[in-house]
Amino acid sequence: MKFYNREKEVRFLKTYCQLEPNSILFVYGPKSSGKTTVMLRVIEELSNREDLVFFYYDLRKYATPTKEEFLTIFFEKSDKKYIPNKLEFNLGVFKFGIEKNQDFKNPSLNDVFAKINESINTVIKDGKKPVLIIDELQKLKNIYFNGNNKEGKSLLNELFNLFVSLTKMEHLCHVICLTSDTLFIEEIYNNSTLKNASEYYLIDWLNKEDIKKILKEEGFDEKEINYAVNYLSLPYEVSQLINNKKLGLSVEETVRQWINIEKDKLQYLIANAPDELNENKINEILDKFKNDIKVKNEEIIKKELINEFKFLVNNEILFYDVINGIIKPTSIKKWHAIKELLK
Ligand SMILES: Nc1ncnc2c1ncn2[C@@H]1O[C@H](COP(=O)(O)OP(=O)(O)OP(=O)(O)O)[C@@H](O)[C@H]1O
Ligand SMILES: [Mg+2]
Repeated sequence: MKFYNREKEVRFLKTYCQLEPNSILFVYGPKSSGKTTVMLRVIEELSNREDLVFFYYDLRKYATPTKEEFLTIFFEKSDKKYIPNKLEFNLGVFKFGIEKNQDFKNPSLNDVFAKINESINTVIKDGKKPVLIIDELQKLKNIYFNGNNKEGKSLLNELFNLFVSLTKMEHLCHVICLTSDTLFIEEIYNNSTLKNASEYYLIDWLNKEDIKKILKEEGFDEKEINYAVNYLSLPYEVSQLINNKKLGLSVEETVRQWINIEKDKLQYLIANAPDELNENKINEILDKFKNDIKVKNEEIIKKELINEFKFLVNNEILFYDVINGIIKPTSIKKWHAIKELLK
């Protein structure tokens, strides 16, 4: 699979991994913008660096992990404190090691965190720098230790405390969290533990100049490129357009298909919206994108529209960038579909 130019993002993250840890980094961006792909590229490009030890966990692969699953995802029984992650073997990333006789049926959070600390400190004693990366971190949201939801401790909240201590306080380890859930980013942004202890990095749509360059290299002519660039924003769309051309579809045909599919999906979604949502309000929100691709937060985030807004974000119609204070469709093709629906 070809990797399209993400030079700026790859360079930023590569450099970041080599600086002294000082805060938690949240990498966010529109659905399918390429966050995971860029992060994996960074790990790959740094794989020759003997002094970096990556702990990479991709929670995308799991439905909603239970406490037991969380433990098996993050830990491996071994005499070593950190060991290669067999599930991600090609990447050369690691898992936290725990003693073979450790009973992990019902551990306390303190035990779990002590093990993470031991692993991190062993890496440092070995003269290396640990980098902890968690993809789709919000999946740990519903895990509780030491009791059920009401009396127990939220794993995620406690993990944030640990992460702040590992980064901002002790500067031991990088912690990079990726997420496509922008309402989750908003929660994080307003979380008091994380104030002044976190940074945000946006991996956005491909920029037009890069898209033009890719299409040119792939043999598209000027007319095709100038047309396509008005509809493309995500890397997988670029690949699809290239493949479709090979299959004999014109740029216009591919674009037409995309917009029709997106429009149908949107219509279906609205028709099946939960009863407590108001269709007029959904349309009122979408209407703001009639002339503009980007809208300021305050134009939409109002008490009377909040449930409809969250519905559109959760269903990946809109991307909410709390850090920059803007809302936009998750892709340019979605924007065109919204506009057609409003006609
Ligand atoms: N730079 C790139 N070059 C080529 N293909 C890419 C690139 N970035 C992403 N893709 C492709 O786009 C699709 C989505 O990428 P990826 O899963 O990395 O996005 P994501 O932002 O992590 O998505 P999600 O929001 O679902 O987590 C994948 O099929 C991937 O192969
Ligand atoms: Mg991803």
